[in-house]
Amino acid sequence: MNVLRFSDLVAAGRAKGARVFIRADLNVPQDDSGKITEDTRIRASLPCIRMALDAGAAVMVTSHLGRPTEGAFKPEDSLAPIAARMGELLGAPYAKGVPLVANWVDGVQVAPGQLVLLENCRVNKGEKKNSEELARKMAALCDIFVHDAFGTAHRAEASTYGIAQYAKVACAGPLLAAEIDAITKALAHPKRPLVAIVAGSKVSTKLTILQSLASKVDGLVVGRGNANTFMLAAGLPIGKSLAEPDLLADARAVIAAMKARGAEVPIPVDVVVAKEFKADAQATVKAATDVAADDMILDIGPKTAALLADKLKAAGTIVWNGPVGVFEFDAFAKGTETIARAIAASSAFSIAGGGDTLAAIAKYGIEKDVGYISTGGGAFLEVLEGKTLPAFEILGRRAAG
Ligand code: 3PG
Repeated sequence: MNVLRFSDLVAAGRAKGARVFIRADLNVPQDDSGKITEDTRIRASLPCIRMALDAGAAVMVTSHLGRPTEGAFKPEDSLAPIAARMGELLGAPYAKGVPLVANWVDGVQVAPGQLVLLENCRVNKGEKKNSEELARKMAALCDIFVHDAFGTAHRAEASTYGIAQYAKVACAGPLLAAEIDAITKALAHPKRPLVAIVAGSKVSTKLTILQSLASKVDGLVVGRGNANTFMLAAGLPIGKSLAEPDLLADARAVIAAMKARGAEVPIPVDVVVAKEFKADAQATVKAATDVAADDMILDIGPKTAALLADKLKAAGTIVWNGPVGVFEFDAFAKGTETIARAIAASSAFSIAGGGDTLAAIAKYGIEKDVGYISTGGGAFLEVLEGKTLPAFEILGRRAAG
């Protein structure tokens, strides 16, 4: 997609002395005491911030954190922990924390070469509904608006969409640009075969993704709960496993659409079952045809995992969303581990996204062997659904003039 890139503006000298407003996605997980438990999104925001500072811009950065009530700021909504962590990562002169500015909508004091973090933008009244008044005020704070919040690219809010409409210049930051480049490489111009793994507890939550990918991919691997519905659709017994019988027709339609294109939805040939959903439940490998009425399928079996691993190793491109089994329980994690290691060993370009997928990548330590790890949760899923995200729509429109 044709969008203006911040890196090009910097290269053209247009950021020097400019007031640059960066919308980042710093919505990181925190524990009950507010401590950040995982800081990937903060680290991913730094290249854009450094790029702006190095270019001599006056830099303002904001993000949402959680889903606060607008107009009613509470201490737990504060970006203070993020200001502290970002400062540590940036080092001097911010090592003790990036200055955090509250009540910033009507004006921000920041000089060229300096950085400030603007408090949780979702506390501003009108943010969620993309109020024009709020968006225009934010746009007036800057010369250049940089959208670098891929994780929020599926939201049309005042700080992600309205500001891009009204700012003098609106462009994509390096993270947003890298995400769209990776997604384009995987889905628009993939090296074939293109294999997608779409796993999750239910078909219903992933149905539009499965339907969208059925017209694009060469192999569509289903897993975890949604594989049970596909097994049922293929006439296999699934015992008391979680499934959605009312979606059998949709599952069959996906299988048929793939078959009509000479592509396939590999159905498990063996599974790992238990009588209870418990970490220490007895795990038993069974042929897919032998699942008993009181069995629960909690993982793919070793034969299935090996067949899928071979397909992944031979793939040109891999899109991964979702672990194929209950990988949180070690006895039911082998399928996901085999898939993860096959992706790591494959020469295919791989892109992965989604909270559980990132947890699996971290569990098996394969971060460096995945081609691109998306910072998007819902945004990544909406891209897989084939939607044009509001961020790209508005930046594309602004680039077209
Ligand atoms: C996310 O965590 O997926 C993004 O930060 C978006 O958050 P939201 O779903 O609250 O808009």
